[in-house]
Amino acid sequence: MSKTGAACVGHMEKAPTRSDGLGTRAITITIDGPAGTGKSTIARLLARRLGLEFLDTGAMYRAAALAAMLAGVDLHDGEAVARVVEESGMHFDWRCDPPRLWIERPARMDVTQRIREADINVAVSMVAAVPAVRRVLVERHRAICKAHPRLVAEGRDQGSVVFPDAAVKFYLDADPLERARRRAGQLREAGQRVDESAIHEDILRRDRADMERAVGPLIRPADAIVVDSTKLSTEEVVDLMERHVRKRLGEEVDG
Ligand code: DC
Repeated sequence: MSKTGAACVGHMEKAPTRSDGLGTRAITITIDGPAGTGKSTIARLLARRLGLEFLDTGAMYRAAALAAMLAGVDLHDGEAVARVVEESGMHFDWRCDPPRLWIERPARMDVTQRIREADINVAVSMVAAVPAVRRVLVERHRAICKAHPRLVAEGRDQGSVVFPDAAVKFYLDADPLERARRRAGQLREAGQRVDESAIHEDILRRDRADMERAVGPLIRPADAIVVDSTKLSTEEVVDLMERHVRKRLGEEVDG
């Protein structure tokens, strides 16, 4: 196995960027939307189809929560949490597809798997609501976009706050009942017992928290293309988005 392959455990090595009909100029595409709509999967697939890179900003909020927990700071102390995040040296390994996420402090570690565990699901909502943390991470998202200017960026606030000038903005939505049904299916597949109505309640609670947050709340950007995935498969959503992007940008490139 190559050195890169070893670094990408469980992930593929990034394929060389192929010709995609979209030229070579900078392109930022954003996908905003509530929890449980499959944003990350769809953003990753769309990026692959278009030969762009993929930025999972939710993973960065998760890594921020983990860094704060490892540093032992009180998660209610926003300034202390923000300091830990600022000093964490959080970075992606772009050689992998999807990129793996690392922190350097308080301990050097590949956090890609760890940030998906249950304790992080709980802590991250608190950390994502801290304005100072959001400032640090928004700055980081923009720095990443400078270094990787052909990007599909996914998160709650990418089109509305972080990249207001994005070339194409999507808002991905789905009925909360359908989102709960999908989540329950994933958990059942993982062998867990599930209470679908509790999952539905949790999704409604997360929607409220995301929309009522003072800084970077979940909103639908006025210039976003709204995609409702309630009745669509992942493949159909990616097809639809790809058509929108190619129509909007392909014509500019050709013309
Ligand atoms: O998409 P996710 O579940 O991995 O996101 C983790 C948490 O981070 C979730 O509470 C929403 C929050 N988040 C955010 O506030 N802003 C973003 N751009 C991305 C995620």
